[in-house]
Amino acid sequence: MADPPDRPAAAPDELEIRAAWRRDDPRIEADAIAFWERLGLLPPGTSPEQRAKELIAVAYRGDRLVAVSTATIEWFEHLRARFAVLRGATDPEHRRSRAQLALAMPSRDALERWALDHPEEKLAGGLAFVETGEWGDFARLPVWPQSDLALVGYTKDGRQVRAAWFDHYRLD
Ligand SMILES: CC(C)(COP(=O)(O)OP(=O)(O)OC[C@H]1O[C@@H](n2cnc3c(N)ncnc32)[C@H](O)[C@@H]1OP(=O)(O)O)[C@@H](O)C(=O)NCCC(=O)NCCS
Repeated sequence: MADPPDRPAAAPDELEIRAAWRRDDPRIEADAIAFWERLGLLPPGTSPEQRAKELIAVAYRGDRLVAVSTATIEWFEHLRARFAVLRGATDPEHRRSRAQLALAMPSRDALERWALDHPEEKLAGGLAFVETGEWGDFARLPVWPQSDLALVGYTKDGRQVRAAWFDHYRLD
């Protein structure tokens, strides 16, 4: 996960995961902004520059960024704790090649390390609102591999709510 500046690009068919959480890495941010703009993946009104500050980790194939995970930290009233609300997107040409699965554990680790270093943030874990149609049978798994996101309920509009608590976090 460390990113020495002179590292060679990964082989074109290999996924390389790079950490981005709270690093303000200009190269990764610029690549992510180009990714969102090229693919039109951001909802209208969302600033790519702002979303770039929410990057947790990214996946490259060769020198092309092909997938991102991002998070905003939000109070989640139903579980009465602050969570990193996770979002993921993969370049359509690179979907179903396990890019999101590859991002899941490094993303969780990066957030957990940061939470341990910033106890004042009281970050309890990760949370995802999942469009079940995007994930096929994967959405039927009670606990997702790599991310440990467990199904905790459904929103009124039918999305799954999935949560993974950090082991170090203690309820108030
Ligand atoms: C949803 C999304 C992030 C998945 O990214 P991805 O990199 O293709 O996901 P992965 O390859 O890591 O998939 C992991 C597993 O999820 C399931 N899965 C993912 N996409 C699926 C699909 N379109 N149909 C059925 N199952 C799917 C599969 O079980 C897959 O494992 P497998 O390919 O070995 O069977 C991607 O399709 C995307 O960017 N969609 C648009 C943005 C979006 O909807 N974000 C998430 C909203 S909840």
